[in-house]
Amino acid sequence: MTAFPKNFVWGAATAAYQIEGAWQEDGRGESIWDRFSHTPGQVLNGDTGDVACDHYHRYREDVALLRSLNLRAYRFSIAWPRILPAGAGAVNPKGLDFYDRLVDALLEASVTPYATLYHWDLPQALQEQGGWGNRDIIGQFADYASIVARRLGDRVQNWMTLNEPWVVAFMGHRSGEHAPGLRDEKLALQVSHHLLLAHGAAVDALRANAPQSQIGIVLSFSPAETMSGAPEDKEAAEANWQANGAWFLAPLFCGHYPATMLEKYGPLSPQIQPGDLTQIARTLDFLGVNYYFRTVIGADGRVPGSEYTEMGWEVHAPALERLLLRLNADYKLPPIFITENGAAFQDEMGADGSIGDARRTHYLHAHLSAVARAIEQGVDVRGYFAWSLLDNFEWAYGHGKRFGIVYVDYKTQRRALKDSAKWYAQTVAKNALAAF
Ligand code: FCB
Repeated sequence: MTAFPKNFVWGAATAAYQIEGAWQEDGRGESIWDRFSHTPGQVLNGDTGDVACDHYHRYREDVALLRSLNLRAYRFSIAWPRILPAGAGAVNPKGLDFYDRLVDALLEASVTPYATLYHWDLPQALQEQGGWGNRDIIGQFADYASIVARRLGDRVQNWMTLNEPWVVAFMGHRSGEHAPGLRDEKLALQVSHHLLLAHGAAVDALRANAPQSQIGIVLSFSPAETMSGAPEDKEAAEANWQANGAWFLAPLFCGHYPATMLEKYGPLSPQIQPGDLTQIARTLDFLGVNYYFRTVIGADGRVPGSEYTEMGWEVHAPALERLLLRLNADYKLPPIFITENGAAFQDEMGADGSIGDARRTHYLHAHLSAVARAIEQGVDVRGYFAWSLLDNFEWAYGHGKRFGIVYVDYKTQRRALKDSAKWYAQTVAKNALAAF
């Protein structure tokens, strides 16, 4: 039986735009994801987050769900446009009130809140001023962080500044698959720099306004591995790591960008001002690691014999163990939390109301085993958050991709535990992998 360290944090994660709905309620401003999802052709089937899981109205039920699954930690995000509808300036008290109620409900249920400040829903008004491409965003993000910390910092101790800056920069501004849907590599690189600066400024703002805070950033990893030992494949894998992993890790934890990348990008490289790297490399209390799948170099299409999820992502848990070992070996890191890990499968409710998602249970089991093996080898992993508590709005894929351990019937908004949720609850209760 694989056991986890005492005090290991077990949780589930969500993000505001993916679950809240209530997009025009109580003074909420428009976000870039409202604009993007309302633009025909951007999201599969024309889905939007207008209603999503209606969590804005059903948060009490969802907190009770967490509780019923034995979870003592919940990672959620705060919607910037609820707090500052125009991105900056006037504060919307009703927006703050919502998170106030949510946090109180969590604490009443003995669930520790882990709050993310930015999970992709930039106020549209700021996008109109250039969004993450405009250096003013750094101060605007710090102001937003201060406002939130002043209101919630007496009860929320665990904060994440940004979720997956790689995705924000490169899927939002280079490939254009995500809001704001731009395709400009030079801009994307400048955006990645501004994101990191805003992160550093928010760390300062959180510490100034909520001195008890434990602060981290959440990075996404899809580590590149090779099918063959061919030297050119190995080189390609290393180049991929530099461009995607080290591009964020080195400035955050070593105070510089990877030299090979600056050289490679040449004139596309971001404009860096004196003092920027110091502002970025603030001491952190933890690193959030999101892992779903690896990138395979030299595989033309799919890897023979591998299983794939509904997203077309390979199921491959050993790469998570190797990733954690590499992070630990290459960087001087604070403790790590797995802030997201999970899988989308085509779930169907049986006649008896059960949802037999054995593949998801298997996925979670395999990845938690990989985490346990990394811990045994000395990596300081403090907790694990399953993605996701609920089926939700999966960005450009809309509601078609179900990542929840809890099923959501979008017509009735009824929630139903999938088998994986029951398995996860047992694992949490035992602090060790349950059989299945
Ligand atoms: C991550 C996102 C999260 C979710 C999962 C499937 O990149 O952080 O919101 O969409 O992917």
